[in-house]
Amino acid sequence: AELFEPERVNSKGWDLRHRPTLEEIDAARGAFERHRWQAGPITAEDAPAGAEEVVPNPARPRDEVGTITWATPETVAAAARAARPWDADPAERSAVLNRIADLYEENYGELFAILHREAGKSLLDAVAEIREAVDFLRYYGARTEGDPAVGVFACISPWNFPLAIFTGQIAAALAAGNAVLSKPAEQTPLIAHRAVQLMHEAGVPRTALQLVPGAGEVGAALTSTPEVGGVAFTGSTETAQIIHRSMAENLDPGAPLIAETGGLNAMIVDSTALPEQAVAAIVESAFQSAGQRCSALRCLYVQEDIAESFTEMLTGAMDAMRIGRPWDVSTDVGPVIDAEAKADIDAYIAEADGEGRVLKTCDTPDAGHFVAPTLIRVTGIGELEREVFGPVLHLATFKADGIDRAIDAINAKGYGLTFGLQTRIDDRVQHVSDRIRVGNVYVNRNQIGAIVGSQPFGGEGLSGTGPKAGGPDYVERFRAHPADHAAG
Ligand code: NAD
Ligand code: ALA
Repeated sequence: AELFEPERVNSKGWDLRHRPTLEEIDAARGAFERHRWQAGPITAEDAPAGAEEVVPNPARPRDEVGTITWATPETVAAAARAARPWDADPAERSAVLNRIADLYEENYGELFAILHREAGKSLLDAVAEIREAVDFLRYYGARTEGDPAVGVFACISPWNFPLAIFTGQIAAALAAGNAVLSKPAEQTPLIAHRAVQLMHEAGVPRTALQLVPGAGEVGAALTSTPEVGGVAFTGSTETAQIIHRSMAENLDPGAPLIAETGGLNAMIVDSTALPEQAVAAIVESAFQSAGQRCSALRCLYVQEDIAESFTEMLTGAMDAMRIGRPWDVSTDVGPVIDAEAKADIDAYIAEADGEGRVLKTCDTPDAGHFVAPTLIRVTGIGELEREVFGPVLHLATFKADGIDRAIDAINAKGYGLTFGLQTRIDDRVQHVSDRIRVGNVYVNRNQIGAIVGSQPFGGEGLSGTGPKAGGPDYVERFRAHPADHAAG
């Protein structure tokens, strides 16, 4: 399928350098500063539900953002029985998906408020979330024609893009005409609930889209429910492996699994790189969204000859970062998602500190789940035992003739999501791009924030099954392909 579509336009978003726009955003968001959302399962027919819980604010734990009534495996069973593929004609499905995009843009103040208060998203991140969600809706909404739907799709999403990825999976499944049973991450049910309300308001039938908020056991119920014909999952590699096993044991052998998972992403900076450009790209890639992106930079390789001066520049840039309340426009780094995440990342940093490997760390506010952006020395990516999902960057050096060894070490980890290269040697760009095994390579820029339609996003190896999200092949995987079934 063609990537180049001259008529395609991405969401404009909001220009945060424009003071009247900022004032408008502040008023729209501010109207929801003390709002308490009430959320729970949204099913097509009456279904049993579970316990109720308060949803906290990661930047201000005493702020009760709302309450959530959880779904249970029984809710999933009832929703699965009531699910019906969306049999409206493709033009109608396209119109409805575009109407959802309009509703997201019209309701941006409320969506920003939930993203800040429930997910700790900074203003910059909240803008990017809504833009990406809108882009997914319009992009997949232009791809509603094609083979029949699979039937019922389970969509299981993570908390780190609680609107964009939640919406992207659903939009693709609906574009193909499936019924969707959607399970957001347990940390972010409120934004998911509001999104599903807007989707229904735009015209998606309740039988075609139901919400079953809950933790792993609700996800496990989804991946073992016989009515489910396919699963779209974004989250950790470990959970994807569990889902894969559950599907093999419980679902039709032809049921597709679309899994987008974790990464151990690297960047190489050689001695010809422009240092200012590289430092800005590194700070964004490692610390924006408090490092809670699958695409985030985890291991930086700097050529030995420039390592000392380059590290000094990088740590200087870290000093200039503002860590604080997500709704302040000047904030660069907000909180991590919850107390458990903070404890895990802080313990990792403390261990490195005990070994004398912390090169730089930053100050954080006292209250709230903030983690200090931290730079840790390593000899190479081989030392990284897991994806630490926070603002932690590892720094290694390589010798002038050692670039291929660095690439081999990166490939050997088995992940394959994003990779960054900073160089002014043209031949090197080709050489490295040919050798590195990842889904998305970025040259002389940051390595986060893929744009729907322009930069289809997704990895290989332990990072995902493909197809790439926001690319021309994605919706196709949500359709029944009789030939594939015959082969499988
Ligand atoms: P997670 O794997 O813990 O949870 C993801 C989702 O799976 C949640 O909704 C969770 O409730 C559900 N789940 C948990 N156990 C389950 C089970 N047994 N069966 C079915 N569902 C189950 O991941 P997370 O902490 O929410 O998100 C962070 C991870 O997601 C990181 O590893 C990150 O790299 C990855 N991620 C990948 C991409 C990508 O596009 N490749 C994008 C965003 C996040
Ligand atoms: N698509 C997201 C990014 O590129 C994960 O950062």
